[in-house]
Amino acid sequence: MVKSAQLSINGNTFELPVVEGSEHELAIDIGKLRGQSGIITLDPGYKNTGATTSAITFLNGEEGILRYRGYSIEELAEKSTFIEVAYLLIYGELPNAEELGKFQNAIKYHTLVHEDIKTILTGFPSNAHPMGVLSSLVTSLTAFYPESLDPNRSKKEVDLSIARIIAKLPTFAAWTYKNQVGQPVNYPKNKYDYVSNFLYLMFANRAEEYEVNPVVARALDKLLILHADHEQNCSTSTVRIVGSSHASLFASVSAGISALWGPLHGGANQAVIEMLENIRKDGGDTQKWMDKAKDKDDPFRLMGFGHRVYKNFDPRAKILKKAADDVLQALGVDDPILDIAKGLEEVALKDSYFVERKLYPNVDFYSGIIYRALGIPVDMFTVMFALGRLPGWIAQWKEMRESGEPIGRPRQIYVGHPARAYVNIEKR
Ligand code: SDX
Repeated sequence: MVKSAQLSINGNTFELPVVEGSEHELAIDIGKLRGQSGIITLDPGYKNTGATTSAITFLNGEEGILRYRGYSIEELAEKSTFIEVAYLLIYGELPNAEELGKFQNAIKYHTLVHEDIKTILTGFPSNAHPMGVLSSLVTSLTAFYPESLDPNRSKKEVDLSIARIIAKLPTFAAWTYKNQVGQPVNYPKNKYDYVSNFLYLMFANRAEEYEVNPVVARALDKLLILHADHEQNCSTSTVRIVGSSHASLFASVSAGISALWGPLHGGANQAVIEMLENIRKDGGDTQKWMDKAKDKDDPFRLMGFGHRVYKNFDPRAKILKKAADDVLQALGVDDPILDIAKGLEEVALKDSYFVERKLYPNVDFYSGIIYRALGIPVDMFTVMFALGRLPGWIAQWKEMRESGEPIGRPRQIYVGHPARAYVNIEKR
């Protein structure tokens, strides 16, 4: 195993240690480079830079592998549940029956939110984007639980904050939707499991009894599992760097929600549906839109395609493509945009532009079609992504805090004006 790398510059050679991960990935540790040489590295977007070592999720983008704590996403999606996966990501091992029961009960116990939250919620206009409302409601938890502001408190206190945010995020998400549609909010019912409770909170209305559809509940549980973590993506890196300043878990998660909102990241699932709808309204000519996606002078991108890490199929997209067929069939939904999505995928996988750039469908390409079939409104799709990604954010924040990582503070290369004297306004 290679132990070090040599960097030669300006006639000097520096020895840099090499780190090898448990899956034999290699990294050059440049932690002492600036101290030894006065030189830093530069990598906008951190495309080639590791920010940390982590034991939570393993991705192999070339082979399309995704594992949570060593377990394959395919097995977890098929055999596990979202709450069990949340426990696995956060505490490192699959829970036994007693541990799972305690975790579920701790969550059930905290699903209610303070009534004053409604005052904050109704202060938002009904056309507010749900991600902005969600991020604000999560930050408001720092006011209702001021003891959570100190992330260095006991494990018991941190576990309490973890249970509170996992329990309350579905309530916040559903209340955000109810505020948008002008319906009265529902209150959590502990007779339901986690996902069924969310469906009840979202769709029950006072006019009739609400029945949870088991097909919908199972599909949603699988969707949440598939979104639960994805190593150092944009929003998770945001949660880690905000948490590295010793900001609270709630403040860090709120920042992660804001980062996820962007259309290049979690906002892509909403953008995919809007794109497919536009193509359908435009007559469904997939080749025309593929040509637009390849045209450098055209700002149009094929949303839901491409990935910073996956240069092969996103394994989640494979699972979601099959789930889309199964769920729509089980619910008797015939959605024309599913055929358009499949048509786009078929054309793209044969097109040299996409093949050369290794652009494949990512997690967002099919997820929106399922959310739509489940009755989730399109501007709530990224909220669904946040619900899924919450355990990953928590696990990564907890790992960063427990490893005592220093505050994140990247360096830069200055390219502005050299030193110059102030000029009084009359002389400018
Ligand atoms: C998520 O990081 C994660 O893990 C994220 C995520 C998670 O679980 O947390 O997986 C979730 O965010 C998935 C990605 C969702 N975003 C989209 O679907 C938006 C569309 N995709 C792209 O914008 C893009 O592919 C990114 C943002 C996902 C990745 O961008 P990169 O790695 O910075 O790559 P790039 O923009 O430099 O693209 C490389 C080339 C460029 O062409 P050239 O300059 O080489 O000629 O590929 C082209 C790009 O123009 N390209 C696309 C394209 N994606 C990349 N061209 C057309 N359509 C696209 N979708």
